[in-house]
Amino acid sequence: MEALKDVRILDMTHVQAGPTCSQLLAWMGADVIKFEPPQGDATRGQLRDIPNADSLYFTMLNSNKRAITVNMKTPEGKEVFIALLKKCDIIMENFGPGVLDRFGFTWEKIHEINPRIVMGSIKGFGSTGPYSDFKAYENVAQAMGGAMSTTGTPEGAPYVTGAQIGDSGTGLHLAIGLLAALHQRDRTGIGQYVEVAMMDAVMNLCRVKWRDHQRLNRGNLAEYSVPTAQGMGATPRAGNDSGGGQLGNAIQCKPGGPNDYIYVVVQEAVWDALAQRMGAEMGMPGLATDPRFATITDRRQNQSEIWALMTRFAANYTKQEFMAILNPLNVPCGPIMSTEDLANDEHVRGREMYVELDHPQRGTWYNVGMPIKLSDSPAVIRRSPLLGEHTDEILHEVLGYDAERIATLKTAGAFSLPPKKKT
Ligand SMILES: CC(C)(COP(=O)(O)OP(=O)(O)OC[C@H]1O[C@@H](n2cnc3c(N)ncnc32)[C@H](O)[C@@H]1OP(=O)(O)O)[C@@H](O)C(=O)NCCC(=O)NCCS
Repeated sequence: MEALKDVRILDMTHVQAGPTCSQLLAWMGADVIKFEPPQGDATRGQLRDIPNADSLYFTMLNSNKRAITVNMKTPEGKEVFIALLKKCDIIMENFGPGVLDRFGFTWEKIHEINPRIVMGSIKGFGSTGPYSDFKAYENVAQAMGGAMSTTGTPEGAPYVTGAQIGDSGTGLHLAIGLLAALHQRDRTGIGQYVEVAMMDAVMNLCRVKWRDHQRLNRGNLAEYSVPTAQGMGATPRAGNDSGGGQLGNAIQCKPGGPNDYIYVVVQEAVWDALAQRMGAEMGMPGLATDPRFATITDRRQNQSEIWALMTRFAANYTKQEFMAILNPLNVPCGPIMSTEDLANDEHVRGREMYVELDHPQRGTWYNVGMPIKLSDSPAVIRRSPLLGEHTDEILHEVLGYDAERIATLKTAGAFSLPPKKKT
């Protein structure tokens, strides 16, 4: 049985932050009704690779959902929205500030219509505070949540990270909040409002940087390879330093291409074995006990020399060969995998993390699979819906409308854009 079977979600979310959350919930078995304006989620047409087909931007974030189009700027559209509200367990949205209020549906109003419903909202900066009126996209959240100022090298510009921590990261936070609120609702019968601000989610994901921010009040950060000093204020960018209790860095391998690197963590417990293996091959039999590296304090202080030695060693090996040397020594490590590496990786395919799907407009395409594996309820991934594909089905099956009522609503413009005015 699917874990969220019988949970119905009115999903007004768009772009990435919200859809990534509702897609996860759909993969767990919820009946997710993607509720779109007549022209659809903007991502259907963004970054298109095939003319007139839903883009991968859309298909990869909206699988396993049903789709209905409703024009919320008509009284009939609002009537359908209210009817759906009464039939759903969760409503979720990530509109810009005030959009739902302008439709006339504040949380208070929604709660009054269906006291059991749980409402999830994503905003760039939440509904309170001086930033609450601002819109936000991924990199705005990365900029304002502390990720960019701590990513890159001190001498270079701040960098965004490729992982979509502002959008998909926020979606994950929302999923947790919704499930908690749903659990409470099942005990009390009363739904509540769940809000996640993208800036807050990024701050949460940068937690260790706040650890270091406060440590700077007491002294320098010995594990950083870049200069730090008591009172320097902000946590600096530290390249590929590990950011944790163990030293680590990205080491270039053969043949020196852009992704020919391996990330190596020189865990304290593995130093001896690693140094003996490298030392034997590099004509440095005493490497493990070399006074520059003998204790963790020495290794922290002289870490740049460790990385230089390791780079010399790795020049003879590809990242996969170097991994094959390090794994038997129990050294935590990982080759830098390109998207091409991952798309063809046996492990990835075996874990169903890159799954082949079909689509009426696109033909074959791939989605990244479900990262949360439930033993009794494995996700079955299905294609994303076409625009309005399930409008009639939802009106009939969920709301019990007959063909005549559906036709009347259609004529009134409940599901379409008003005809363009003649000029
Ligand atoms: C992402 C974002 C910047 C996009 O901004 P945008 O394209 O201007 O979209 P908005 O959400 O502000 O507005 C949506 C518009 O569509 C309209 N709309 C949405 N659903 C509709 C429907 N079913 N029927 C009719 N109109 C609809 C809204 O009324 C609104 O128009 P209005 O401004 O005239 O009221 C903004 O939605 C935002 O800041 N969201 C919160 C943060 C977030 O999630 N960002 C990450 C996205 S990955």
